Amino acid sequence: MSPYIKDASVQAVLSAANIVDVVSGYTSLRKRGATYTGLCPFHQEKTPSFTVSADKGLYYCFGCGEGGDIVRFLEHMENLTFAEAIEQLGERFGVPMEYEEGAGPDAGRKDRETRLLLALEKAATFYQRFLWETESGRGARDYLEKRGLGEEVCRTFRVGYSPDEWGGLHRRAAKEGFTDRELDEAGLLVRQAGKTYDRFRGRLMFPLVDQRGRVLGFGGRTLRDETPKYLNSPEGPLYQKGHLLYGLYQARRAIAEADEVVVVEGYTDVLGLVQAGVRNVVASMGTALTDAQIGLMMRFTSNVTFMFDADRAGIEAMLRSGELARSHALRPMVAVLPSGRDPAEVAVQGGREAVAAVQAGRISMLGFELRQALARSDTSTAEGRVRAFEEVRRLMSKAVSLKEREEQIPLVADRLRLSSDSIALLLGSGSRAASRGRRAGRAGQPSLTRRLLDGETAVERDFLVAAACNPARAIKILEALTPEHFTDPRNREVFNAVRDAFALVTDPDDHRAAFAQLQAHARADSEAGPLFVRLVMEADEGRYSPTVLEELHLRLQEQYLNREIAALRATLDDGGDREPEQRRLVHLERLLQSVRTGLKNLDPEEGWV
Ligand code: UTP
Ligand code: MN
Repeated sequence: MSPYIKDASVQAVLSAANIVDVVSGYTSLRKRGATYTGLCPFHQEKTPSFTVSADKGLYYCFGCGEGGDIVRFLEHMENLTFAEAIEQLGERFGVPMEYEEGAGPDAGRKDRETRLLLALEKAATFYQRFLWETESGRGARDYLEKRGLGEEVCRTFRVGYSPDEWGGLHRRAAKEGFTDRELDEAGLLVRQAGKTYDRFRGRLMFPLVDQRGRVLGFGGRTLRDETPKYLNSPEGPLYQKGHLLYGLYQARRAIAEADEVVVVEGYTDVLGLVQAGVRNVVASMGTALTDAQIGLMMRFTSNVTFMFDADRAGIEAMLRSGELARSHALRPMVAVLPSGRDPAEVAVQGGREAVAAVQAGRISMLGFELRQALARSDTSTAEGRVRAFEEVRRLMSKAVSLKEREEQIPLVADRLRLSSDSIALLLGSGSRAASRGRRAGRAGQPSLTRRLLDGETAVERDFLVAAACNPARAIKILEALTPEHFTDPRNREVFNAVRDAFALVTDPDDHRAAFAQLQAHARADSEAGPLFVRLVMEADEGRYSPTVLEELHLRLQEQYLNREIAALRATLDDGGDREPEQRRLVHLERLLQSVRTGLKNLDPEEGWV
């Protein structure tokens, strides 16, 4: 139910509201004589045909014919009713509403809030004018120019400058009838030991505007090298940090149109990106996102791209924000900047092109998490790779879709130096196999993960042990292998010995002679000695099943074929038309295909635990 607003209130709103200020929240206006012109916010255009007359309080677009007063502007732009538009303007321009039925029960609180909002709105205008129109603002204007932030983008965000004295704002506000108490509550004045002074002095002022365009506070940047770099409004009845997204008011339409929001850390990042043509951008204001901020952006899109500073703090904040975004069912992405840079620098120095490159290179949050985790782990040792993989498994379990997860497999495979198939197998069999293992109560068995991550020589070693565990099957397999299937010289030595020993076997059920020979090797003083010991002991226990032997055999072949193919390619790359090599390459690639098919067809439930 929308109560009738008294006509007097409507008239008061219409005379208090400034159409240029309101329209400026949607399009940048340039003053041209008595009117302002800009690009029409109601239709797409490249040359400005939209005009606003400040003294008539009207707007008109010569391109699309849309026009009217400030109320009609809000009705059309924000899809508001007449009463809603009036209420919104009343709040923003400090006009209390009176309703036909009389004011509601919380009218007192409402009135006070209205006063504070008006003080803040007026302060924003005051700072803005002080920046552009006074001699004292020159230093700040020079500063902005030095940083490459143009007047147009500064006007869009109503950037201002606070006088570098104790009572510049205070005097002005008092003249307009604001009490010290009101200015204190609005966070503009500090009252201490009976003295009062302006909170913001000599700082570049960034109005903190809510999604409806109301100024709730300020962030003030020093022009010098001074702490704090930014002084922000204290939290109060209106301003609560973490409940506001800087830039959302200006970015809303662009966010909805792009169906994506770019989140940066800082005020200047927003300005820099807008200037470089990225309009769907907001700032978290220096921290990880909060639930409230996520709630705000969710009204416009569920695709959020983080572009935080490429430093330790920025990375940590993106990881935390990403986790939170996911918990709200958003789809988080990350646009990674060159190390040590922030979006403002990239935008100002590199312009549209540099920003577009950063945006084009964005990756899923999962991809970002994995890169971070893998970069932090030591993948040079087997231990390190096992630990890294556990982290990978944990992160992968958070993926929102199978597709998102599968996209990342090549990255993980590359960093852990395994085939994509192996990673897929590890991820696929992981939890199931682990719970099966616990149920079966089998302990001490090295995990599949462990074995795979030990790398090539581990596969070779395990294959030899598995062969020793299953002599009847192994005899045929070993006959078909060559020493080149093994890279580690110790493994080669063991391979030769096992093959020779098994070649002696005449009775398929009696391997005693073969093992006696291997035991002799175990006692011999050689580098491969320990491996012989392991072989004999584990064969005794029957550690690996025939299925495991089969898989390890396939893996051994896969590794071997990969090496051979790479070597062959390298020689062919040297040039020359060498037909025999070409043919061998084709042959090896076919073999590799069939080995991979064999690996894929392995039942992960079988054998490995
Ligand atoms: P940064 O330190 O990255 O500043 O803080 P910035 O935005 O890049 O600013 P410039 O480019 O050096 O001028 C990121 C954001 O964290 C908040 C501000 O919102 C800032 O934009 N912040 C930072 C504070 O509130 N207070 C501070 O002292 C510093
Ligand atoms: Mn920064």
